[in-house]
Amino acid sequence: MKKSDNPAIEWLSNRVRILDQTRLPQAEVYLELGDYRSIASALTELKIRGAPAIGVAGAYAVVMGALKIESTVRAEFLEKLRAVIRTIADTRPTARNLFRALDRMRQVAEAGADVAEIKTALADEAVKIHDGEMAATFEISRHGAALIEDGFTVLTHCNAGPLATTGYGTAIGVIMRAKEQGKKIKVLATETRPLLQGARLTTWELKKAGIPATLITDSMAGYFMSKGEVDCVIVGADRIAANGDTANKIGTYTLAVLARENDIPFYVAVPTTTIDLSLAIGDEIPIEQRSEDEVTHIWEVRIAPEGVAAANPAFDVTPHRYLTALITEKGIIRRNYEEGIKKIM
Ligand code: MRU
Repeated sequence: MKKSDNPAIEWLSNRVRILDQTRLPQAEVYLELGDYRSIASALTELKIRGAPAIGVAGAYAVVMGALKIESTVRAEFLEKLRAVIRTIADTRPTARNLFRALDRMRQVAEAGADVAEIKTALADEAVKIHDGEMAATFEISRHGAALIEDGFTVLTHCNAGPLATTGYGTAIGVIMRAKEQGKKIKVLATETRPLLQGARLTTWELKKAGIPATLITDSMAGYFMSKGEVDCVIVGADRIAANGDTANKIGTYTLAVLARENDIPFYVAVPTTTIDLSLAIGDEIPIEQRSEDEVTHIWEVRIAPEGVAAANPAFDVTPHRYLTALITEKGIIRRNYEEGIKKIM
């Protein structure tokens, strides 16, 4: 896949062009954003989303912020850049790729001798981060496709496809690669309440890729698993702790427990940029809490009585014992996740 084949984000030297994912599938609306604050808002509003894509957008946002800083005094410039980075870091707390990308950008900035050099180096680094995420997804799909047999029905949750990764996709990349190998694959896509990434984005991507998909509500997963209609589950992740505990879209934990109960393999496909060695276990992963309105409303239509309280954790943590394998660009890890992760990192 070429960079230009992926509509999620395109770098235009001093601004980015993103496909507004909140408008899909009704409309394909592209936005050109030239200010780091507008990228930060786009991240918070999920116009661009999915851990790897969040990291890439965050890196480009740093470049845009840096280009607008007028000071030519290195120390003053770096001080202002740190404020830019803080704003971007405040958007999506669970996505490990964002913090990894921001760390890289900060290190590059601090290594630069003068402001002009730093600005050029930041732009180069952001492109490298983008290229790295793209390349990783291709390798993930290669490793993961070996686990998918001809005739499989794969259940996936949320959206871990090209839109979420700026590349080939993690979970969906694996499915697409298996299809390219000539395997006949069907997908059960969970709608993924509250923001419906599965219904809106995964089915959109699968339709484009010519892969038969059946949309189900989140609560139907157990029904299909118990009927023997799911051969494996593949999901992406937002952050993985050093022991393999996996934070992914809310509802993933439920699917993992259901998969275990029904003897169905449960795979997590991620680039190593999603793995956070600084956190020993999943309990330490920060979980993004989003607005109650996303639960009490669907597309601004209120579905619950006025005044009803609602909770909206955007992610949950699946303990590593529920994983059948972790699929990364560096290979597949099974069972002893802590040791396996240490080896590949
Ligand atoms: O809130 P979102 O839409 O950014 O959540 C996305 C997910 O949960 C994905 O599964 C995850 O980021 C992996 S993307 C390859």
